[in-house]
Order: sequence, then C-alpha cells, then structure tokens
Amino acid sequence: MFHVRKLSETFGAEVLDFQIDAHAPDEVMQAIKALWAEHKLLLFRHQDLDEDKLVAFSRKFGELEIHVRTEYLSPSHPEVLYISNMKQDGRSIGILSDTEVGWHYDQIYLPRPAVGSLLAAHTLPPSGGNTEFADMGTAFEALPEETRQKLMHCRAVQSYEAFNRAYSVPTNDEQKKKSPDIDHPLVRRHPITGKPALYLCPGMTTHIVGWEAEESRAMLEELFDWCVQPQFVYSHQWQDGDALLWDNACTMHRRDPFDQGHLRLMKRTTILPPPELAVPV
Ligand SMILES: [Fe+2]
Repeated sequence: MFHVRKLSETFGAEVLDFQIDAHAPDEVMQAIKALWAEHKLLLFRHQDLDEDKLVAFSRKFGELEIHVRTEYLSPSHPEVLYISNMKQDGRSIGILSDTEVGWHYDQIYLPRPAVGSLLAAHTLPPSGGNTEFADMGTAFEALPEETRQKLMHCRAVQSYEAFNRAYSVPTNDEQKKKSPDIDHPLVRRHPITGKPALYLCPGMTTHIVGWEAEESRAMLEELFDWCVQPQFVYSHQWQDGDALLWDNACTMHRRDPFDQGHLRLMKRTTILPPPELAVPV
C-alpha cells in the first residue's frame, strides 16, 4: 500500500509508492478518495501516464467533462483538455489563457462547477509555470469568529464576464449566454467532509448579495488578501512525471507566468459533480 507525505503545514499530500491505475482494487480507490477529501490536493510523482490511464483513473472519481473548446481536446480522448502553447501546422493544440495567472476556482460561475481536476505534466519549461493553490477552508477557519458568523449565510455573485474583463480577455455572446452571472453561497460546506470554505475569488466574485456596495467591496478585498497569505498557499513546482488531483470545492488556484519561448503541455481531465457533490443551493 502507498505512503503519504504532507506538502505543506495545512494541506496537500504526496502519495508515494503509487502508480495511477484504473484497475487498482476498490479498497485502494476508496483510500485515495478519502485522502483527496482530507488533504484537498494530491500529488502523484514519477507517473508513466498515457491518455488511456489518465481518463480511466479520472473516471473513478465521477463523470468527466468534455470541454466546449473542442479544438483543444485530445484527438483520441475528448475527455482530455490540452493546456499548452504548442502549435502543430500553425494551429494551437491547447488552450492557454492569461486568466490562468489570476486566482480562481474552476467554473465557480456555473450552476454545477467541477468538483476537481487531474492535471498531468507532459512537457515543461525549464522554469516558471508553477501552479499555486490556496486552502480556502483553513483560511475561513482562521478568520475572527465575528467575521465568520457575518459571512456564514451570505451569497455572492460570480461573473465569468467580469473575470475575463479583468484580464482584457473578450467574452463572446455565446459565452455570455452560456455563463450568465450567478450567485452561490459565500461559505461553501464541503460535500464530503462538511467543513466550510470561502467560496470566492478575485475578479470573478463581484459582490455580496444584499450588502451595500462599499461594504461588500471592502469585505471582498479583505478576504481576497486574507486567503492568499503564505500560510494558506502551496506553490507546486512541476517535475516530469507529476500529476496533481485537486479539490475544486475548497481550494482555488493560479498559474505563474513562464517564458513563452519554451514549450509547455499539460493534460487535464475535469471531474463533474454527481448531484450529491454539487454546490448547495
Ligand atoms: Fe483553473
């Protein structure tokens, strides 16, 4: 059986002596799922992952999303999204957006956001491109009691369009129609552990429903600064053979910039929530 080593004081764990394998016995998969819920971020190093294995293992966690940007999907495995600056015959094979450098929860602007992703390194630049994660559960627990009480039953509006605007990325009419502004609980209870976590991110969370504009702005800015303090953040420096599985219900993430003169290709599967893991309404 595998071993576990913590990645930081508060969250994240490396799973040692484990090769990703969809044929792992049920008790092993149950143990991995329990670790995912407990540690919020799992690192698997020294993996020999082809797309068959990536998809089959990811399916063990739930139904997989087929991304709407079909031009960036693996030609053989539509469940695999390429995140890359590589080109083939003059065409980009992967998506690479300036918005990735901003802190975000994936799909927080959707009614049923993904519960997690498995991201595997394929080609890495010599430096840069680290992925940072913020532990939004520990950040919430560390707030003063009075603030926690104040936020507990609030809802906040999430806007895909506002996030794109913050990074000067256009949102077309079809995207606007598909992703209208939406409100979610500002403090989300984890569907498995029941623990609360701040459910917000800079740029995308525009205001707290029912609050005066100035009071809402001031509180959100305070929270954005609060949750990315070093004690709540883990920065992952990628190595060949790395794969990261994160919990998208209680961590947000961002990517560091890297020199675009170097190639980078990451392969991602996105795990959709079964109804019991969806955001509570
Ligand atoms: Fe992301």
